Amino acid sequence: MLYQTLKEVVPQAVNNCSAVPQFNINGYSWIEAIMETANQYKVPIIIGVTDRNVERLGGYRFIRELIDLLANRYDVTSPLVLHLDHGQSIKGCKSAIDAGFSSVMFDGSSLPIEENIASTKEVVAYAHSKGVTVEGEIGGIGGVEDGVVGGIKFADVDEGIHFVKETGVDLLAAALGSVHGEYQGEPDLQFDIMDAFSQSLEIPMVLHGASGISESDLKKAISFHHGKINFNTELNIGWACTVKDLFVEYPNLYDPKVILNTSKNGIKQVMESKLKLCNLI
Ligand code: 13P
Repeated sequence: MLYQTLKEVVPQAVNNCSAVPQFNINGYSWIEAIMETANQYKVPIIIGVTDRNVERLGGYRFIRELIDLLANRYDVTSPLVLHLDHGQSIKGCKSAIDAGFSSVMFDGSSLPIEENIASTKEVVAYAHSKGVTVEGEIGGIGGVEDGVVGGIKFADVDEGIHFVKETGVDLLAAALGSVHGEYQGEPDLQFDIMDAFSQSLEIPMVLHGASGISESDLKKAISFHHGKINFNTELNIGWACTVKDLFVEYPNLYDPKVILNTSKNGIKQVMESKLKLCNLI
């Protein structure tokens, strides 16, 4: 089956000491790059759509139908998870589920913990009744995403155990030092807390803000049961750099076919390197 859930692909990856990448989409070229990469390597890929990008990309149903059509056109046979990233509201998560997303994240990290638990629980009840998986977040992953800036708030292990038990989420994102967007200085991941989380939880964890994290740190995070690793910024940098380089080499170029194809290949190159880091190829 083309669409799978996080539960179907991530625990298996963790058992194989690997992780499944989430590649966020920002336009048609990102989706094409995912289809070509999935076909070339026959690996599972999580397609991430941030809540704030849904309308810009055409809405939940449009996104699902576009991916259906492209997967059919590319004859994709490897599993895809269509996942709402940082869902900001219960309503938005339900709309994504109703439109055919196979997974959602409810991000209640800005709420007081008991409110985060109550809201996440409601999303889990709805999602699980439709066979859809849910990722929850505790602490606060800082940085910049879709133009929104946030500070980091470290997650606490006991709070994480309580959150997972009460909500029944399938995966947990805990803020442990990674941030969205480009890092100011070196990333400083809290591996001692990661270790404690991995020993206390039976579900896999999610690493947000993976762009810019070194190979050794990513492998260490994977060894501490981070079975889903999220990439957005580096894909966008790959896209932008190939376009800039192309215009430096051919300042008079205007053929969209060349520009779009080259920028899609820039995204694909980053995807391939991330599949290697995730131990999938
Ligand atoms: P980056 O900004 O580091 O690529 O992180 C993406 C992410 O975590 C999406 O949720």
